[in-house]
Amino acid sequence: KMVKATNVFKQINHVSRDKRGEILGGFRGCTIWFTGLSGAGKTTVAFELEAFLVSHGIPAYSLDGDNIRTGLNNNLGFSKEDREENIRRVGEVARLFADAGQVCLCSFVSPFRRDREIARTIHTENNLPFFEVFVDTPLEVCEKRDVKGLYEKARKGNIKGFTGIDQPYEIPQHADLVVKTVNCSILDSAQQVIELLQKHRIIS
Ligand code: PPS
Ligand code: ADP
Ligand code: MG
Repeated sequence: KMVKATNVFKQINHVSRDKRGEILGGFRGCTIWFTGLSGAGKTTVAFELEAFLVSHGIPAYSLDGDNIRTGLNNNLGFSKEDREENIRRVGEVARLFADAGQVCLCSFVSPFRRDREIARTIHTENNLPFFEVFVDTPLEVCEKRDVKGLYEKARKGNIKGFTGIDQPYEIPQHADLVVKTVNCSILDSAQQVIELLQKHRIIS
């Protein structure tokens, strides 16, 4: 099925990160990885943060599961194997965005610990900061929100392998930040991530 390429050689760009930073007002390339159940608030918080950063002149770009799955990853479903490949590819794309000097915001359910660790490793072995943010919203709340009507479909058996219903979500054990969204405004949740970026000197 898949044949791996052999005889390929690493090619080194001539443009350093410092050089890239000169045209971006400083090199701030990093990835913020939002993980959590469907309806937890990943997209909402990531898009809020993207708008905040750009409005402050900081290059930022969001990659979102719903969007990536209609393009780059339109040949993948929701089996464990396909989710793994989804996260691996997105991890690689995020690394490229971060290397280009963007704050890359990734919002993916990414229910498997190992897959998230792979995304992290892709960054850290390239000396790019990676922050795992667990959007910690209880299943009951996500199901009550049912933003897209997917929980109702899953409960009726019309969606197979829905995270939290008949597929697992592995809670992060080493998240860089845990964001709550219950009794908490969208701005409050985004603010927690802004403080994380300040703590790590990504933004002042
Ligand atoms: S994953 O697990 O990271 O590969 O998933 P992701 O790429 O983030 O895609 C999740 C979005 O796809 C919709 N959807 C489902 N989610 C979970 N499980 C199943 N079976 C499923 N089927 C469709 C849903 O809109 C998810 O987006 P969010 O924003 O999480 O609701
Ligand atoms: P996900 O991308 O994780 O599936 P969404 O961002 O699509 O989640 O949906 C989250 C829902 O929860 C939205 O309707 C949003 O308005 C609502 N919500 C309420 N409070 C918050 C909060 N503090 N942070 C994020 N979302 C919130
Ligand atoms: Mg979403």
